[in-house]
Amino acid sequence: MVKDDLASSPWSRYIWNGVGVVVGADWGDGGKGKFVSDVAPYVDFSVRSQGGPNSGHTVWHRGTKYVMHQVPSLAVFGKPSVMTGGMVVNPVLLNEEMKQVANPDVVYIDPRAAVITRAHRALDGHGERNGTTIGTTNHGVGPAYESKANRRELITVGDLLDRQRLADRVGNYVRAHSVELLELGDADRSLIEAGKAAGEPGEAFSPVSGNLDEYCEAITEELFTAGQLVARNIVCDASTMLQQLVKQGKRGLVEGAQGVLLDRDLGTVPYVTSSKTTAGAVLAEAGLSQYADRAKGYWGVFKAYMTRVGGGPFPTELKGQTDERLRKAGHEFGSTTNRPRRTGWFDAVATAHAIRTGEIRKGYITKIDVMAALGEPPLIAAAYMLEDGTLTQQFPTDPRVLENARPMFVPAPKIEDIRRRETVIAGRKSGFKALPDGVRAYIATVEKLLRDISGVDEFEIAAASIGPWKGQTVVK
Ligand code: IMP
Repeated sequence: MVKDDLASSPWSRYIWNGVGVVVGADWGDGGKGKFVSDVAPYVDFSVRSQGGPNSGHTVWHRGTKYVMHQVPSLAVFGKPSVMTGGMVVNPVLLNEEMKQVANPDVVYIDPRAAVITRAHRALDGHGERNGTTIGTTNHGVGPAYESKANRRELITVGDLLDRQRLADRVGNYVRAHSVELLELGDADRSLIEAGKAAGEPGEAFSPVSGNLDEYCEAITEELFTAGQLVARNIVCDASTMLQQLVKQGKRGLVEGAQGVLLDRDLGTVPYVTSSKTTAGAVLAEAGLSQYADRAKGYWGVFKAYMTRVGGGPFPTELKGQTDERLRKAGHEFGSTTNRPRRTGWFDAVATAHAIRTGEIRKGYITKIDVMAALGEPPLIAAAYMLEDGTLTQQFPTDPRVLENARPMFVPAPKIEDIRRRETVIAGRKSGFKALPDGVRAYIATVEKLLRDISGVDEFEIAAASIGPWKGQTVVK
């Protein structure tokens, strides 16, 4: 379905046919929600096919800011938004999030999505306290994917609708993990507090405050109640519905969560999330690969600098004053956990790895205005010097090698302050030519490095976000 105003929009050259996909070409948090806000007028439906409440996409609609965690972003625009069986869902938080959606009937959930219970959340935090340093969001996403993979302990969204079946499944999971759950002791209380801070409603309860039977009953009751509320959103098979939408000529967007550098298999393993985050994978999870527009529809979002929340190697990480100034200027605090994000200079080696393995063809660079406001000439890592003296542009797969890799910086063009409003207005006619010379040179330097290092010749940076508001974007 072609939208009336697309022809006169700067996006007209870049909006795909059929299905497009957007992923993070980073460790997440690049601004995928901003991209969705920009293209929303031209897209008819959106899909989430992996991850769960660990993600946070900030979208703007009619001057209001929404932070979506589980529901695909286009729901706030009143467009069909489908959550596939590849997701892991916290139904209690989902109901809270649905309150932001004016018309909840546009949200559809596949019954095969896995359910996250309080027990999964408790065990996510427990694993971290036992000495691992992944720094998970503590939302129980990893343990819920474990249940999905082993199948014996899986609780699905479909199970929420049958109280007896739900009680059996919950009992099954809790019994399988009773030793660890009882070991939690008071530690679980801190998680309860975290849950409250994340907006989790209802009475707090913990396995130590009662016996396991009561714990199971409380979880079952909470989930069954939440299930009654989302029952009307559960469809019988999301993939059939999605393919019908495509066949009706609707344009779709699959919204990846996290970023390629957090991909379970291709990211900075083991400091990664528990799902697949590449363009190919999130499209396949949605069952939409065959409808994807390879030339125009494979988008990757990344900032003009790097950030990371949680543990794991980060070669260009900044310390001290510049780190603090960048965090402050860019409001670099996690949209899901509010944790301060680690910051660093742009890393072309890591981002090129994300572009190549993530199958990204079009780049959307964000927060150039933040770099400009820093008032300090930025640096760009174009290679790494490894501990053994090797100079490389290959992204190391061994976390210890990456931890000790020294970034080889090239000076970047000096970025001038951007007059956002004027630039956006001028940009409507003249695209990137409206950007100050230094900014254009920065984008061109980054683009060339990414193309050369990734070997993806057709990669181009096609749009640049220069402010938090919808519309503060210049399309090439
Ligand atoms: P988990 O996905 O909650 O298990 O967390 C695993 C790692 O991925 C941690 O380092 C998290 O901080 C990071 N992570 C998970 N989701 C996001 C996200 O949406 N944005 C950025 N980092 C994330």
